[in-house]
Amino acid sequence: MKSFLITGVAGFIGSNLTEVLLQSNQYKIVGIDNFDLFYPKKTKENNLLWCLAHPNFEFLNLSIEDQELEKKLSSYNFDAIIHLAAKAGVRPSIDSVESYYQTNIIGTLNIYEFARKQGIKKVIFGSSSSVYGQNANTPWEEKDTDLQPISPYAVSKLSGESTAKIYAHLHQISTVSLRFFTVYGPRQRPDLAIHKFANKIERGEPIPLFGDGKTLRDYTFVGDIVQGIIQSLDFKGSNFELFNLASGRKIQLIEVVRLLEEALGKKAIIEHLPPQPGDVSETFANINKAKLALNYNPSFSFENGIQEFVNWKRILYLQEPFISHKPILQN
Ligand SMILES: NC(=O)c1ccc[n+]([C@@H]2O[C@H](COP(=O)([O-])OP(=O)(O)OC[C@H]3O[C@@H](n4cnc5c(N)ncnc54)[C@H](O)[C@@H]3O)[C@@H](O)[C@H]2O)c1
Repeated sequence: MKSFLITGVAGFIGSNLTEVLLQSNQYKIVGIDNFDLFYPKKTKENNLLWCLAHPNFEFLNLSIEDQELEKKLSSYNFDAIIHLAAKAGVRPSIDSVESYYQTNIIGTLNIYEFARKQGIKKVIFGSSSSVYGQNANTPWEEKDTDLQPISPYAVSKLSGESTAKIYAHLHQISTVSLRFFTVYGPRQRPDLAIHKFANKIERGEPIPLFGDGKTLRDYTFVGDIVQGIIQSLDFKGSNFELFNLASGRKIQLIEVVRLLEEALGKKAIIEHLPPQPGDVSETFANINKAKLALNYNPSFSFENGIQEFVNWKRILYLQEPFISHKPILQN
């Protein structure tokens, strides 16, 4: 049975991924997380409830920045690391540059050092569409060299990709950096627009709409991201590769509000505000590379994805996986 280390396991993407892997009964998972205070620890503990009851799962409350990480994990024999731990969020990174760099740059380096010393030959890294930044030439492709990150968070993710390149080159570790595009769905982080808007609509509070509501995002359902991560574990094409994981379609912010109103059965009160520093006007991916090399096939329509998110909100913390492994893993 293959054994994986998943960092950031208690988070939105990490917990959904771990549940899918465990449902298949094909993998042993050790998950680490330090319950970073970006959003409540209780939420993250709830994310892990189903996993903790699974015999093939072990959780360690451990930081990727821990200088004794190697010692604490030396008794395991991992086939691969899926590195998702990070200080996430673009806007908060502007006022906390140092702590973002500490976790996302130094912590990521610590993970690659651990892989090198333990002879772990595969590392998957959760990167971000934010590395493209203000590149106006959409849809963005992995081969674009015009990367214009405009936030400390984006810079920290670009650094993670560069670290992957060094370790692939110098130490023959097979690395795949996956650029996730605005992920949404069950357990979405509370700081992200869809979740924040849904909370405000439910409470009858005004929604702060930055800009004219015409900003465009390539929203990606978390089940599709999980599928892409799992498929990248089998990628053997080269030691260093980048892939966009997105839906390959763009949606206006105002359309998101409309669909949320429909799914929640309640009208939104909109408060128009000026655009925020660090925000880009459009994210949009070309996903042909992932389709060809990983057999990545995002299948969720945005309408269905929003409905899944709202279903989750209504039965919050149901202690069962939300994403079924069946469409993702065979068996
Ligand atoms: N959600 C998105 O739209 C999106 C988009 C692009 C990239 N990403 C990346 O995907 C990954 C997962 O994102 P998410 O949305 O699930 O965020 P999340 O905040 O829900 O999950 C990240 C997890 O990492 C943990 N963590 C933070 N610092 C840590 C440390 N020092 N040691 C151990 N654990 C630590 C947090 O406690 C959290 O549980 C992140 O690397 C993020 O940057 C997410």
